[in-house]
Amino acid sequence: MTTYGARHVAIIMDGNGRWAATRGQPRPYGHRAGVEALRRIVRAAPGLGVEYLSVFAFSTENWKRPPEEVEVLMDLLVEYLRSEVDELDREQVKIVFLGDARAMPERCRREMETAARRTAQNQGLVLAIAVNYGGRDEIVRAVRRALANPENLKSLDEEAFGELLDTAGMPDPDLVIRPSGEVRLSNFLLWQSAYAEIYVTPVLWPDFDESELRRALEQFEQRERRYGGHA
Ligand code: IPE
Ligand code: IPE
Ligand code: MG
Repeated sequence: MTTYGARHVAIIMDGNGRWAATRGQPRPYGHRAGVEALRRIVRAAPGLGVEYLSVFAFSTENWKRPPEEVEVLMDLLVEYLRSEVDELDREQVKIVFLGDARAMPERCRREMETAARRTAQNQGLVLAIAVNYGGRDEIVRAVRRALANPENLKSLDEEAFGELLDTAGMPDPDLVIRPSGEVRLSNFLLWQSAYAEIYVTPVLWPDFDESELRRALEQFEQRERRYGGHA
């Protein structure tokens, strides 16, 4: 099986609402299909050489949506974790969360803690689920952590600051994938994506599958990463 050079792939799981609309269905129908796409991609990723998969599930800005939609998204998170944790655990997937969990509903927090605890020792794919995550919010929380311990400030540099972020211990994303055709980061992994390659596809997230992931990884292979140096 071909594997690729992207260790950390980050995906902005966008386009569920439009996917539902094209089928004349309400938005939750698209969110459910989006969960199926996530199941597929989490299964496919390790075989393609991906070691870290970060998925944007709910942003700090998504609270602006109607409460009924927010409720559905929270329920789906609980449902996904409950139904997948056994199998992911067997497959050695380690589940971690990015974002400020304190603002998440209690029922989500319980499931998040269980999933993280149960899979903490696993050595396979790291699945980082971003919920109530915003890149700016993450940076502000990291600054607060730095200020809470003046010792931190003396030796603060880029590397040390990175260890105060939610992604502490993870490499930066090599590839950020944005389905649904929008050409923006929407506040995802702002600090970490400084030199990420960005791949935008018009495919809506619920239609995203292993062959789409391969396509993105193949394009990644063609990119020349220079990090500000010259070729
Ligand atoms: C992504 O799909 C899910 C979340 C942002 C939570 P959207 O709900 O944003 O779908 P579109 O962008 O309206 O199609
Ligand atoms: C980004 O999608 C957030 C997630 C996929 C969770 P949005 O639908 O919220 O982004 P915008 O509003 O189109 O930028
Ligand atoms: Mg959207």
